Amino acid sequence: MDDRPRVFVTRVIPDEGLAPIRASCVVDVWMEDWPPPREILLERVAGRAGILTLLTDRVDDELLDAAGPGLRVVANFAVGFDNIDLAACARRGIAVGNTPGVLTESTADLAWALILAVTRRVAEGDRYVRSGSWRTWGPMLLLGTDVHGSTLGIVGFGRIGQAVARRAAGFGMTVLYHQRHRASESIEADLGARFVTLEELFELSDIVSIHVPLTADTHHLIDAAALARMRPAAVLINTSRGPIVDGAALAAALGEGSIGGAGLDVTDPEPIDPDDPLLRLPNCLIVPHIASATRATRGRMAAMAAANLLAGVRGEPLPTPVELPTIDG
Ligand code: GLV
Repeated sequence: MDDRPRVFVTRVIPDEGLAPIRASCVVDVWMEDWPPPREILLERVAGRAGILTLLTDRVDDELLDAAGPGLRVVANFAVGFDNIDLAACARRGIAVGNTPGVLTESTADLAWALILAVTRRVAEGDRYVRSGSWRTWGPMLLLGTDVHGSTLGIVGFGRIGQAVARRAAGFGMTVLYHQRHRASESIEADLGARFVTLEELFELSDIVSIHVPLTADTHHLIDAAALARMRPAAVLINTSRGPIVDGAALAAALGEGSIGGAGLDVTDPEPIDPDDPLLRLPNCLIVPHIASATRATRGRMAAMAAANLLAGVRGEPLPTPVELPTIDG
């Protein structure tokens, strides 16, 4: 009998991850392009020593119970882990891994793609051309706002927030940031970034870019009150998690012109409801959660998630563990 660890991988991931897993485990891979439906997920995790999950898989008591007592590790193919109930894993002594660092630069690139596309109305211009509306060069056609020389406000100044700030130097921008703990003086000096309160950031920034994880504290951090503080031409960029922005409040602010535009890589829910008012607003650009979606980055994420999975099934420390809450008793 094959006594290699049995693992479940909830979607096809790049070979940089699948190949090492196949080499040392008995692997069941969900082969479809969409997530396994809940009841199938619960069935397929049964008796596994490890599960490689995506941000579309909810990992909670029910799933961990369905997996059973042999489960040692949940390796998330993402830097974010708000899909995982960490306390439930901690109670069972199950290790959790994520993929930090390797997607920082690609995510910052995509945040910048959105900044430039929204301020300079790139998607609107493309729709205009394709619809056959382009008759001539127009002095008043598709006027946007300048990025160069403007003020960028970064909410959450971790790895990704800082990578977004670094890129602002080339555009001669003023960079403000806010996070719970002020960054070191050397980081501030290196990136030319100034710490401000959240309220000041909303009031002073031409572009506000969100880079905080989704937690109970950051849910709807960008609500009607936050949007009301922003400048009339301000652009909001979200490449973190959809529920950090109150979508209804954002649609209202964009619709009435109290802010200028939004670029969203993430929505709430995902995929966005086809009837969501945000989809009817020309000044709202939405892409389908693709910030880390480059071949190289997804390959590195796959390798890292696989390394966590393999270490976990062997009972070894994970290369990139998520810190679990302490469980009393
Ligand atoms: C993607 O959103 C990730 O958390 O890696």
